[in-house]
Amino acid sequence: MSKRLEEIGSAIEKLEQLKHDPTFTEKMYAIEANFEFLNAIKTVPRYINWLLTKASKLDSAKLLELTDFPVPEWDIKMHKRLIEIERRDRPGLVKPIVDAVVDEFAKAGKDMIVADLGAGGMEVDRQVAIRSAKSSFAHKLTIVAFDKSATTREIARENLADISAEVEIVETGILTQTELESLRKKAIKKVLIIMATNDIFDLSTSFPEKYFDIVYHSLFKHHLDKREQEKFEGVILNVSKIAFEFDGYRSFFPHLLIQSAMAWSSPVFLNGTVFSMLRYKNKNDFSQNVKFFNNTAHYLHLK
Ligand SMILES: C[S@@+](CC[C@H](N)C(=O)[O-])C[C@H]1O[C@@H](n2cnc3c(N)ncnc32)[C@H](O)[C@@H]1O
Repeated sequence: MSKRLEEIGSAIEKLEQLKHDPTFTEKMYAIEANFEFLNAIKTVPRYINWLLTKASKLDSAKLLELTDFPVPEWDIKMHKRLIEIERRDRPGLVKPIVDAVVDEFAKAGKDMIVADLGAGGMEVDRQVAIRSAKSSFAHKLTIVAFDKSATTREIARENLADISAEVEIVETGILTQTELESLRKKAIKKVLIIMATNDIFDLSTSFPEKYFDIVYHSLFKHHLDKREQEKFEGVILNVSKIAFEFDGYRSFFPHLLIQSAMAWSSPVFLNGTVFSMLRYKNKNDFSQNVKFFNNTAHYLHLK
């Protein structure tokens, strides 16, 4: 059996265990949708049939990606592949958000504290950090990467290894304002990265109003349901001076087809790619201050 089919089989087995776990009773719609998807991607004709007959009928509000379930193996597979793609110059997937943060730092002409919410494998932060460290900007930048997952912490640590000579990196648990300020005082290098495990929904209680010069998040918002998205917006409005939102927009043709072909060899990543697309908003659901990147079907929203 091919490695790809083995991976699909193992994902189906894990999903079967989740199906019988009462914790996930309310997520049965998403579990069933994932079963159908995993069976469909066993062959190209079955997948095309699923795309044509099932995909657009799925209820995006009830859909969850495999990585929304607490299975570390799925997180590792998805994030490692995502980092690989985010690191490539072409298509420059996260370049818009990296450019926006670095440009804002350059313009500000002062020391800054920025925060990435739901930082994952931290490739966005890695690119912001290394570009700022190598720049001629005289000021200091502190990047706080908030992510509560122990699995992504390990992935991020590995991902940041190649910039550890140029950038100061500190790992902590739940970060307080006092600890953050003490770390900034002690920092020697121009760029300091702090990895923290705070739940992002609690940030308003740990940090003063408008504390962070920039808050940004990447490829994250579509994972939240409507109520969580509203809460998330409230937290961001509260703790940030300005905010950048980076995520995808819905585009079946040609983006979903191209992305499916690129992700085909990696079933968990393919699931994230396709189900994300089904959860994204349409281009015309956005109001102002949004820039679209049609090469990858992503947008940057300045808030
Ligand atoms: C899709 S990933 C982020 C991808 C990453 N920003 C990128 O651009 O590659 C979402 C991350 O948010 C984290 N996360 C989800 N809910 C969270 C919460 N309430 N507090 C902190 N982190 C959270 C997850 O652990 C996961 O690593």
